Amino acid sequence: MVSVAILGFGVVGSGVAEVLSTNFEKIAHNAAQEIGVKYILDIRDFPDSPFKDCFVKDFSIIENDPDVKIVVETIGGVGAAYEFTKRALLAGKSVVTSNKELVATHGYELLQLARERNLNYLFEASVGGGIPIIRPISQCLAANEIDELYGILNGTTNYILTQMIQNGVSFDEALKDAQKEGYAEADPAADIEGHDACRKICILASLSFGRHIYPDSVPTEGITKVTLSDVGFAKSAGYKIKLLGRTVKRSDGKVTCYVAPHLVGENNLLANVENVFNGIVVHGNAIGNVMFYGAGAGKLPTASAVVADIIDASKHFKARKQLDWMESSPDTLFDSATLENRWYIRCADAMDSAEKIFGGLAALSFAQAEGETAFITESMSKTALDALLKGLAPLSVFRVLD
Ligand code: HSE
Repeated sequence: MVSVAILGFGVVGSGVAEVLSTNFEKIAHNAAQEIGVKYILDIRDFPDSPFKDCFVKDFSIIENDPDVKIVVETIGGVGAAYEFTKRALLAGKSVVTSNKELVATHGYELLQLARERNLNYLFEASVGGGIPIIRPISQCLAANEIDELYGILNGTTNYILTQMIQNGVSFDEALKDAQKEGYAEADPAADIEGHDACRKICILASLSFGRHIYPDSVPTEGITKVTLSDVGFAKSAGYKIKLLGRTVKRSDGKVTCYVAPHLVGENNLLANVENVFNGIVVHGNAIGNVMFYGAGAGKLPTASAVVADIIDASKHFKARKQLDWMESSPDTLFDSATLENRWYIRCADAMDSAEKIFGGLAALSFAQAEGETAFITESMSKTALDALLKGLAPLSVFRVLD
């Protein structure tokens, strides 16, 4: 029997305990040994939980128990989660996590620590909830040079945008629903300001390109500035608004990442990724485009990915899984402002002022409603766009993905 300790009995941690218990026999078959929860660490009491006998409040009980081989960190954040992860690895235990903030911020250091001790530090659940994406990139697509990856990486904001677009639900009401369903972060600002998607694109870029990309080097814009008028203009032109994380590798090997709302063409597969679902497109030089789709947040989908990592860790005690990247270097990144796209502009100017500046550069005819003008430009860099926008009063500026 492999003994597991779960740190944090919130949405994901309780889901992990539930899946390990409900699918006990199937998991034992797949792992070729039984896997059971020995401890659950939480500062709260859960007297009615079926796991009530497992609860402890002192991490050193777990740290000092040689019987515990795998620690599951579902606390979140970079405080106690960071300390306990390091202590677990130093105590010779493999660690499995859903904590994207910790992996994006300290992944290089923690992977090094795991590698030096021949331990696993696995984080399939940190991106895309239940969608397999970390293992496919590191294993199934390992034969490829990946040059671009983009996708809908945050279930809460996709849920909010879908509810606004399809049902005219207000932003606040949709956010409350997402919180009720357990999709949103403890501080939902991390979702709506784009930080959660930023952490996820950093993890995917680090994995795809082999160098740690830190969140504070990634331009990040959430959905708080998306208005119903943007939604309306986008719809009339055949687009949906989606929050995307994107990373691109240039031919000189430099990489860029950003997170921002995009107008996505209604025929693009990502346009039909709705509600809490995530969709991620990876482009490799051998495979071309491949898309991953599924439940991007929620208790059991995320637990499904965590438990798969527990099984994998239990099968790799002797020879750890090769899952590493190098430290960042000063020449790792290039500026995303140089990437060329078509752009959606909504401005407070009259149509003829906008036409005077962008007339020849507009790819989509100008539309006007309630004193606002909206249009889509030809392809250009952000730097070139900003120079033109100096002559207008822009209200929304979003990249376009056809
Ligand atoms: N708050 C996150 C989301 C949870 O909505 O996608 C899953 O990482």
